[in-house]
Amino acid sequence: MLDNLGNLQRTHSCGTLRVHDVGTTVTLMGWVSRRRDFGELTFIDLRDRDGITQVVLNSEDAPEAHAKAKEVRGEYVIAVTGEVTLRDESQRNAKLETGEVEVHARELLILNDARTLPFQLESATTDALASEDLRLKYRYLDLRRPQLQANLRLRHRVLREIRRYMDEQGFTEIETPILIKSTPEGARDYIVPSRVQPGKFFALPQSPQLFKQLCMIAGMDKYFQIARCFRDEDLRADRQPEFTQLDVEMSFATLDQIYSVTEGLFARVFKLIGVELPLPFPRFSFAEAMRRWGSDKPDLRIEGMELQDLSVELQQTNFAPYVSALAAGGEVKGIVVRGGAGLSRKALDDLQEFAKRYGVTGLAWIKLGDETTSSLLKALGEESVARLASTAGAQEGDAVLIVAGKTKPVAASLGALRNEVARREKLIPANVYAPLWVTEFPMFEYHEDDDRYYAMHHPFTSPLDEDLPLLERAVEGGETELLGRLRTKAYDPVINGVELASGSIRIHRRDVQRMVFKALGMTTEEARSRFGFFLDALEFGTPPHGGIAPGIERLLMVLLSTENIRDVMAFPKTASATDLMIDAPGEVDPKQLEELHLKIVDKK
Ligand code: AMO
Repeated sequence: MLDNLGNLQRTHSCGTLRVHDVGTTVTLMGWVSRRRDFGELTFIDLRDRDGITQVVLNSEDAPEAHAKAKEVRGEYVIAVTGEVTLRDESQRNAKLETGEVEVHARELLILNDARTLPFQLESATTDALASEDLRLKYRYLDLRRPQLQANLRLRHRVLREIRRYMDEQGFTEIETPILIKSTPEGARDYIVPSRVQPGKFFALPQSPQLFKQLCMIAGMDKYFQIARCFRDEDLRADRQPEFTQLDVEMSFATLDQIYSVTEGLFARVFKLIGVELPLPFPRFSFAEAMRRWGSDKPDLRIEGMELQDLSVELQQTNFAPYVSALAAGGEVKGIVVRGGAGLSRKALDDLQEFAKRYGVTGLAWIKLGDETTSSLLKALGEESVARLASTAGAQEGDAVLIVAGKTKPVAASLGALRNEVARREKLIPANVYAPLWVTEFPMFEYHEDDDRYYAMHHPFTSPLDEDLPLLERAVEGGETELLGRLRTKAYDPVINGVELASGSIRIHRRDVQRMVFKALGMTTEEARSRFGFFLDALEFGTPPHGGIAPGIERLLMVLLSTENIRDVMAFPKTASATDLMIDAPGEVDPKQLEELHLKIVDKK
């Protein structure tokens, strides 16, 4: 028989009782985390969102409640009323905030029972947890774990702080529609069929990009929104099909103003976890970041390990693989691992396999131990190897890791190796936050497979003023190859190797916007049918403007030092973009399909 709550009210939560509460009568409510039965005495660990309190039921003092406690099982929902007492010295639990006291229950109400859970909520390590699929199916149970509850509460505090800060800075929160037309951010759209307009579809926003720019044209001046975005793209540990951005846009803003508002925002948010971010963030152009760290989101917690160009040194050798890579316009570069002379053959083989994933064919190495050993010794001889090591800046006790090939895979593999080696060799200091701006991203990226240029950020990004003539020559003068050289007023803030946001000064001139669409291979008709409304809007007095959009989940991942995006959202999807709990996406009723004028032709 279950009891009724009636008018009984909680006096405290399960995380608040301390020594100074001893002697008071309290009523607690929550879930049974653990029950231990010692005959005359029964102990219950009672849990709610604030913590755990130990409840004691004694057959002598409270025979009825004690008898009832025998029926209680894990995750039953109960209420207890009783007196707070000091625990015996030997029974105190330093791991629990309430560990010095316990509640001697006089009354116990069983408010609800619970089936045996499909998995244990408590486990010593994350590895010992049940499979993630099972936990996602019963997400509401997994969310009972204190760690996930704490994460969601931090998320709440971060969003609250963001709203406060944006308000103080004079921004207006504006909601933009979810049922819209495609806004390209490089992913596929989720589309929604229209019932009243047969054969027509809405797209869910990949971001509110065009709406925020329209807010600037509307004269709103400073806009922000905590915006849900939808992207049908390949998922990774740091991506979800549905995620949240703090979307920001400012009129008449200079780069410096946007940097300063953004840095101020991050500083405020990091204060929530007691971290003072070093301001201002250093700035590096994309070209410099790629040259020095092989990445547009370098982890600057890792000291040094910058890419060293060894091309000149190797040009003079007659080692065919390198000479031919260089002759084909490629490069040979390396990184120095401080103290890396101790890397085992197995570790180096592993690193070679790791590097190959980034498109290079191999990894050469030099170790400056008691004697110099190297995979290049036979091919180059001792003297060349020693010179190479010294050009790279290696000293005794270090290792040099070297790759050759085209510029992109060389940078990508060394950039990734830098992070990987630092992680394996524990070269990343704890509790350090290393922010930076990466600026001047290229406007376009050339894709060999379909022989065309794509926008690297999005097609509304402004080129650098000094590079505008290149766009004109490429589009109007047919010098298409110049598109690859065009740099933009785009910027990403990066902290600890994580891209936290992207933004740019936008194109506010319709002639420039038209040229960019043209450079992307859009005919005038295509540009009109996709973005006509926007090109029209650009004709009515568009102020210069720019903005940025930090990813809320990414930000929380850095704040909480977690690599799994699912740790920072309440109801995430799996890597195959499904929700296992509600079983979505699902099939729909044939009648619904008919109403929408849709027919499923082939499920494969
Ligand atoms: P971008 O596409 O770079 O820029 O996105 C901005 C930030 O959003 C986060 N993010 C994601 N987080 C989780 N899952 C995803 N699938 C995902 N995709 C992106 C990242 C990223 O830095 N409209 C532009 C912004 C602008 O120019 O103002 C935009 O959306 O943290």
